[in-house]
Amino acid sequence: MSHPVPQDNPIPTPTPSAAPGLTTTASPNNTSHHTIAFVGGGNMASAILGGLLKSGFAAERLHVIEPLASQRLQLEPLGVQVWAQPAAFLSQADLIIWAVKPQVFKAAAQDVAPWTHQALHLSVAAGITMASLSAWLQAPRVVRAMPNTPALVGLGQTGLFANAAVSPEDKTLIEAVLQSTGEWVWLANESLLDAVTAISGSGPAYVFYFLEAMCSAGESMGLSRQEAKQLAIGTLLGAGQLAAQSAETPAVLRERVTSKGGTTQAALEHMNQQALGEHFQAAMWAAHRRAQALGVEFGH
Ligand SMILES: NC(=O)c1ccc[n+]([C@@H]2O[C@H](COP(=O)([O-])OP(=O)(O)OC[C@H]3O[C@@H](n4cnc5c(N)ncnc54)[C@H](OP(=O)(O)O)[C@@H]3O)[C@@H](O)[C@H]2O)c1
Repeated sequence: MSHPVPQDNPIPTPTPSAAPGLTTTASPNNTSHHTIAFVGGGNMASAILGGLLKSGFAAERLHVIEPLASQRLQLEPLGVQVWAQPAAFLSQADLIIWAVKPQVFKAAAQDVAPWTHQALHLSVAAGITMASLSAWLQAPRVVRAMPNTPALVGLGQTGLFANAAVSPEDKTLIEAVLQSTGEWVWLANESLLDAVTAISGSGPAYVFYFLEAMCSAGESMGLSRQEAKQLAIGTLLGAGQLAAQSAETPAVLRERVTSKGGTTQAALEHMNQQALGEHFQAAMWAAHRRAQALGVEFGH
C-alpha cells in the first residue's frame, strides 16, 4: 500500500513494552507494541523489514520513507506503511532506523529530525560517526550498527555501538529488531565499527571474489559452470560450518587438511609464495581506511 504523504495518517499511540533485561535472545514479541520507521527503503531496510514481518511484527506499525517511486512499489506487497517523504506520523515512532547511503544522510536527517527527538535511533550507515549523528538528529539515544548482506537470509553479522544515553531496554529493542537478521556483537568503542566494516560489512564481497576464482579455475579444468559452482559454494559452506562447530583455530583446521607433499600443500605453498595472506589483510586495511574516510567525508 502506498500513501501519497498524508499528514494526518492515524497511527495508534504506542504503548511502552515491558522489555526484559539485556539478553542475546530477545524475542520479537517484545517489540509488538512499538512503532518503527525506516528512513530509506533499500537493501538493508528490506532485510530488516523482511525479518520483522516474518517474526510476526504487525505491518501497520512499520513505516518506510522512500523517495524513489520504483522502490516504494517493491515495498508495497509487504503491507507496510510506505511514505514518499517525512510527515507527522514520525513523532509517534519509538525507533527510527536509518538505512540511507552515507552521502544523503545529512540531508535526510534535516527533514526527519524535527519529528523524532524523542525516539531511539539506529543508524546502519557506514562511517557516519556518533558525533555527526548526535548533531544532525538532535536526539539523545543513538545506536550505530554495521550489518552485512547475509542479513537477507538471516545469517548476517552486525556490529553495534550505543552511546551512553541508550538504556538496557533500548538495547533489548534493538536486539529484537535484529534477531531475525542473524547475530550481533556490542562493541566497547565506536572506532571498532571500522574494523567490523572491514571484516564482515564488506566481507561478503571478499567471499564472492574467492568463489569467482574457484568457479573460474574449476571451469578451466573442465568442469561445467554448474558443477564448479556447486563444488565451490558447497565447500565454502561446509568449511564454514566445520570452523563454526570446531573448537580449533582456522590455522589448525588448515593444517589438518594439508598432508605433506600433497595437493593442498602445493596450493598453499603457491599462495604463500604470492604472499596472498598479506595481500588479503592489506585489502581489509584498505576497507578500514575507507570506512574512516567516509566518516570525515560525509560527517560534516
Ligand atoms: N548493503 C550492504 O551491504 C550494507 C552493509 C552495511 C551497511 N550498509 C549501509 O546501509 C545503508 C543503506 O544501504 P543499502 O544497501 O540499503 O542502500 P540502498 O539500497 O541504496 O538503499 C537506500 C535507499 O534510501 C533511499 N533514500 C535516499 N535519500 C533518502 C531520503 N532523504 N529519505 C529516505 N530515503 C532516502 C534511496 O533512494 P535513492 O535510490 O532514490 O537514493 C534508496 O532507495 C548505507 O548507509 C550503507 O552504508 C549497507
